[in-house]
Amino acid sequence: MCAMSQVVRVAQLSDTHFLEHGAEPEGGHAYDTDAAFDAVVDHLGEHSHLDMVVVTGDVADHGRAGQYQKAAEAFSRFQVPVNVCPGNHDFHAPFNVGIGRPGVSTSRAMEVQNWAFLFVDSSAGLMNVDESGLHVDPPGEERLHNNGSLGSREASWIRQMCEETSAEHVFVWLHHPPAPTVPLCHDDNYSAEWSALLSDVSIIRGLAGGHTHVPDEHVVVDRPVFVAPSLKNNFSIDPQTWLPPGYRTYEFMPDGAVTSDLHLVDDDRWPRRPFGRALKSLFMGEISFEELAEIVDRRASS
Ligand SMILES: [Fe+2]
Repeated sequence: MCAMSQVVRVAQLSDTHFLEHGAEPEGGHAYDTDAAFDAVVDHLGEHSHLDMVVVTGDVADHGRAGQYQKAAEAFSRFQVPVNVCPGNHDFHAPFNVGIGRPGVSTSRAMEVQNWAFLFVDSSAGLMNVDESGLHVDPPGEERLHNNGSLGSREASWIRQMCEETSAEHVFVWLHHPPAPTVPLCHDDNYSAEWSALLSDVSIIRGLAGGHTHVPDEHVVVDRPVFVAPSLKNNFSIDPQTWLPPGYRTYEFMPDGAVTSDLHLVDDDRWPRRPFGRALKSLFMGEISFEELAEIVDRRASS
C-alpha cells in the first residue's frame, strides 16, 4: 500500500471565531474575523494541490446559530472538502446543526491515502447525559472556559479507531493541543490523558490543534503537536508581540512523516506590535482574565 500512496496536502484553519455583524467579541481585543478570513482565503489561494481544509474549532465566537450560518457559508467558498471539529466556544447542539452543508462536514473520521484522520472533540469529557440519554453540554459557561477534557468515552473511541483502521498511519485533529506551551491554556489532567494514549497507541503520528492563539510546535511523547494561529487575535509570547492572523499547511508522507508550515498574513489592519506586561502575565497564568480586565479598565480611566 505504501508504494502506491501519494502525499496528502491539507490546510488547517483554527479559531475563526465568526461573529454576527456589529456583535461584541467575547473578551474583546479582536481583529475583524470576517476580514481575517478573507485575507487567509486569498493567501491560501497561492497553494495548489490541496486535498482538503480542516478547521479545528472555536468556529463561532459565542456558539450562536447565526455565527455558524456565517461560518458554513464562508467555509463553502473553498474548492476542496472542508471538515470541522468543535472547540470550547462551539456549543454542541448549534455546532452540529449549523455547520453541515455540501462540501462542509463534521465527520469524526476519514481515510485519505494510507492515513486515517481522527477529528476529536477535546471537550467531550465535560458532556453530561440528559434524561433522554443524549449527551449535552454542561450548564452555563463550563464548556467555554475549559482547557480540554477527553473523558473515557472519547479516549476509548480513539483507541478503538486506531485498532480497527486499515490505514497505516493516524493523525489527530482537535481543538486543544495536549501540553501546550502557554501556561494559561494548560490542564494537567488533559495532558495526562494524552500522555497515556500516546504511550499506548503507536500508530498515532502527530496531532494538530489551536486554542492558545499562540502558534507554535512542540513534542508530546515523541509526537509532533502543531498549533495553528487564530483569526481573532494572535500572539507571540517571546518576544511579546501581536501577530497577524494565519493558518498552517501540512504534507502527510506515505511513510508516516508529517511536515507543517506556519503562514501569517501580514497587513496594516493587524500590525505586529509589542504588548505589555499584563497580557504576558495572563499567558503565564499569573493573573486571570478578570484581573486583566480590571487592569485595562484602570488604565483607561486614569
Ligand atoms: Fe479560540
